Amino acid sequence: GNVKVFNFTISKGSYAPDGFNRNVHLINGKFLGPTIECDKGDTIVINVINELDEDTTIHSHGISQLGSPWYDGVPGQSQCGIPSNGTFTYKFQVNQSGTYWYHSHLKTQYVDGLSGPLIIHDPDDPYIKDYDEEIIVLLQDWYHNDSKTLLTYYLSPESHGREPSPDNGLINGKNSYNCSFAPSGSSNCVSNATLAQFNFVQGKRYRIRIINNSAFTAFVFSIDGHSMNIIEVEGMITQNHTVHRLPINVGQRYSAIVTADNPGQFWMRAEMETKCYNYVSPGLNPLIKAIVTYNNSTDPPSSTAWNENVTDCVDFNASDLKPYNTQNVPDANLNFTITIEFYKDKKTNITLGTLNNSTYVIDLKYPTINKVYDNLTQFTADQNVFSIEKNNTVVDIILQNYKTYEHPFHLHGHVFWVLGSGGSGTTPDYNNLNTKDPIQRDSATVPALGWTVLRFVSNNPGVWGFHCHLEWHVEAGLVAQFVTQPDLIRQLTPPDDWKALCPQQHSKL
Ligand code: C2O
Repeated sequence: GNVKVFNFTISKGSYAPDGFNRNVHLINGKFLGPTIECDKGDTIVINVINELDEDTTIHSHGISQLGSPWYDGVPGQSQCGIPSNGTFTYKFQVNQSGTYWYHSHLKTQYVDGLSGPLIIHDPDDPYIKDYDEEIIVLLQDWYHNDSKTLLTYYLSPESHGREPSPDNGLINGKNSYNCSFAPSGSSNCVSNATLAQFNFVQGKRYRIRIINNSAFTAFVFSIDGHSMNIIEVEGMITQNHTVHRLPINVGQRYSAIVTADNPGQFWMRAEMETKCYNYVSPGLNPLIKAIVTYNNSTDPPSSTAWNENVTDCVDFNASDLKPYNTQNVPDANLNFTITIEFYKDKKTNITLGTLNNSTYVIDLKYPTINKVYDNLTQFTADQNVFSIEKNNTVVDIILQNYKTYEHPFHLHGHVFWVLGSGGSGTTPDYNNLNTKDPIQRDSATVPALGWTVLRFVSNNPGVWGFHCHLEWHVEAGLVAQFVTQPDLIRQLTPPDDWKALCPQQHSKL
């Protein structure tokens, strides 16, 4: 493979993605980072210059980091933060392909714009002859306050555990906002900002890569007048499957082929699923739109939405997808049950999340992988560590959600098979798990008051985060970590500049 070098200067600035001007994070002076693009087998190099007044990291979401666990970018788990005015280089080979993204994993930084797409092409992709061009569609919710202010409120008694409601949503960093809802006297808002626009050429077939990099919001994605042929879920090629409306939760990605066979002017729609919000910002219009045009016109389309009779906004379930290549799903030889709950701390009156009754507390100065190198084998309860000693152990994760809110869980360093999931009670339906042809991915939803069973092969020595990808819930403590094959971790030699990030010198490093 080739070496692909990307230089990221991370800074703060002001920007108005939807007409409302606010402080944001920038990469190379731009809101939303550049697309990292390469071929399977290439080596990605990201040179980070941190011009923020605090630490930062870059995590490549969905990348396995096989043999390079120290480049996974998770503070407290796989690295110490890159300090203010410091530099750091991530360097890893990718032996996978598909649709990914990268984001800061430090506190809530990505909520302020520190993220971007990461696309890995495969010359042997079985669908490569079925499309002519590629389009990236990055969906996200958007707040008009900076995330630090929102987090302070969320982790205070006043919030009663109610997560901050977004003020808007963005498609490829754009949308408009009705400024009459902006705080009174704010002169920093301009209504009718420009929407994202996609210029179709009649007859062309587009591979649309849809990424949800929200802090808090699931979307239902559709394009008026055009059906979508799903071919990929998070790096796994699927048998093609036609849908009109595609639900996509936080951290998830899909590729779909769309044929430009219906000339005209159409809305692309991303409906925010606000039904689970504890409250909704008054100015929020949950229907996020972009323009699809065959004649480069910016005129607003008059197209109407697909309106099948759907229950619960969902006419497609990811379990309808089938892998393109048949796989053998091995039997599990280890399982972990993880319960998801929230509680109000009696002393502080702050609402926090728990996994197996334990709220994760980040140890920024002494990440778990450093502890492994120092031969520490016991971890404090607030680290939510699950240890797997033997390489190639087949692990089941049984998630039981006691909340009336769904949680999109993401596993680092691996893909898992989604064996089953249900929403009426937290006891898994073990007799009806799909071990024949489940899809494999890295981000899956645990339904409200429900369960999900995930299976993965632990064959990648490292420290791997496993957490709800709703960013507010990360901060509330819904985070665990798998320590896989610590003996093999200790045989991997970490790079010197990585060691130098941690303030303490530990014995083995
Ligand atoms: Cu998108 Cu722990 O990450």
